[in-house]
Amino acid sequence: MTPAPVPAAVAPTGGPTPHPDARTRLARLLADDPSADDVLARWDRWGFDLIVALDSLYPGTDVMANVVDLLAAGHANRPDHLRARDRDRLLSPDWFQRPDAVGYAAYTDRFAGDLNGVAARIDYLSELGVTYLHLMPLLEPRPGANDGGYAVLDYGRVRPDLGTMADLACLSRKLHEAGISLTLDLVLNHVAREHAWATAARSGERNFRDYFMVFDDRTEPDRYEASLPEVFPDFAPGNFTWDDDLAGWVWTTFNSWQWDLNWANPDVLCEFVAIVLNLANQGVDCLRLDAIAFLWKRLGTNCQNQPEVHTITQALRAAARIAAPSLIFKAEAIVAPDALVAYLGRGPRAGRVSDLAYHNTLMVQVWSALATRDGRLMAEALSHFREIPTTTAWATYLRCHDDIGWAVDDADAVAVGWSGSGHRAFLSDFYVGDHPASFAEGQAFQEDPATGEKRVSGTAASLAGLGRARSALQRRLAIDRVLCGYAMIMGFGGIPIIYMGDEIALLNDDDYRSEREHADDSRWLHRPKMPWQVVAQLSEEDSNAHLMYAGLRRLIRTRARLESLHATVGTQVYSTSNPAVVRFVRRHPAGDVVQVYNVSDRAVSVPAAEVNGHYTGLVYDQLSEATVPTVAGSYVLAPYATLWLTDPPA
Ligand code: GLC
Repeated sequence: MTPAPVPAAVAPTGGPTPHPDARTRLARLLADDPSADDVLARWDRWGFDLIVALDSLYPGTDVMANVVDLLAAGHANRPDHLRARDRDRLLSPDWFQRPDAVGYAAYTDRFAGDLNGVAARIDYLSELGVTYLHLMPLLEPRPGANDGGYAVLDYGRVRPDLGTMADLACLSRKLHEAGISLTLDLVLNHVAREHAWATAARSGERNFRDYFMVFDDRTEPDRYEASLPEVFPDFAPGNFTWDDDLAGWVWTTFNSWQWDLNWANPDVLCEFVAIVLNLANQGVDCLRLDAIAFLWKRLGTNCQNQPEVHTITQALRAAARIAAPSLIFKAEAIVAPDALVAYLGRGPRAGRVSDLAYHNTLMVQVWSALATRDGRLMAEALSHFREIPTTTAWATYLRCHDDIGWAVDDADAVAVGWSGSGHRAFLSDFYVGDHPASFAEGQAFQEDPATGEKRVSGTAASLAGLGRARSALQRRLAIDRVLCGYAMIMGFGGIPIIYMGDEIALLNDDDYRSEREHADDSRWLHRPKMPWQVVAQLSEEDSNAHLMYAGLRRLIRTRARLESLHATVGTQVYSTSNPAVVRFVRRHPAGDVVQVYNVSDRAVSVPAAEVNGHYTGLVYDQLSEATVPTVAGSYVLAPYATLWLTDPPA
């Protein structure tokens, strides 16, 4: 197969739209709907993106008519309060880019028992400053091992012990009232082996067999395997699984019971249009496109980041814009920088695909800088990022529910005088605590014996050394290390996402080893249960939880009032003459900001002229709310010090 052509861009306004019959069909289906005019106006704005994408993916099929029917049905089921939200969000499309936007990610059961329990904790989230809540997979998964819910059995049902769809709709409404948006995962690369589509395929229904990638013998799988990496080599080697019922090899990128979908089949796309609109109609504001990079397979490639992945996203997004426009998409693509920016749109897809994407490089570089006490590699790695569309933003994070893979580019490492493989092996050892200079306490995930590289699990506080701290000084350093990392992800612009428990300095949870379904997956080490008794004691001023919480709150509050942290502009990252000091520069019409970070555990100094550069007036630190003194023309920075410098307040 040759790569699909990138759909040409044509301005959505002006000029005739192809498929005039599709608009007529939509108008007819909406004839009795009081907001038909709104929907048709949105068709005129986004229908073109949909048409171009569907024509390119599925030429010569009747998928367009089916999708139009789904849009009409999806809109018909949209409750009035969400139609009102659609209007509000169309007027404030930058809601997720604003400096007061702060995310929080948690498993429902581990955070609060069930969905009603989450509703009862809204005050806690609001107090912290959270405006965006990502509840980890909560749709009904397969019984037994299910990859933390990423093996969905039924997209129309909530996991029974967490509640019902009605509870979900009720929770989203309460969150909205508190100014918090709701994000859920959309697992669209694969379904559980027990999902109804897979069951039908296994019972011999040909059209459902076509929902998956099934091969009668090893010929094709072997040809694909020649260029395919393995995601879980330890517990799920290979990318294909033999299934007796299918009498064939089914594509399984992840676990053997997660069956990859065949997105070349337009019926799969239609199923997901319906799923997306149904979730949007429960009040979900953002869908995290899980493992989106893997959606389209092409022989001779690693079957990631294929152009069709973006065309599929464009189709789903355009569909949502028409029927439920307050919904946005967040790409989970843990891929190299050039491939990553495409998820926010490059060329004709700029502004037409995901609204948010995880900034994996920033996360890795923060941990790398903290381990080496050196910010030069970070500056090098981030200097290659292209600009992203001004309508999109990064989702920044210090930890998430997954392992950290040491995605350090060889050329970047060489540029600062290091070796890529050497540095990746160093970070692997460092963060599992096997290096003499290490402060960290992580565990390996999927070790690669050939390279010595280990992906790493562990909570932010444990990776930063809080569990190993033996003195008051070490304890303070560990907390400040985490806060320095959080300052970077909060100062960068975009929506910073706090992983549950980081705000109270939760340490690793070794109990996962005693749970049969989790024991072989060390990622459960950093998915602890929320200890609410610790929250109840947050006022104990010298506790780890208090220090961390107070530090994070200060960052969040400061950030919220700095208009110049709005994600419309990007951040440039520079090293300085002191390797331990990194400088983030944000040039914004609302006021420039220069941020300074000491990534080391020593006090260091750096010439003020170098920090401020052209911005000589930026001497006021917004975090400490004071003008920063210089000593003999230099700033003296305490271990892990963070300055967000602006013009002094008027
Ligand atoms: C994503 C999830 C990860 C999961 C994988 C397969 O990468 O973040 O937890 O294992 O997809 O669904």
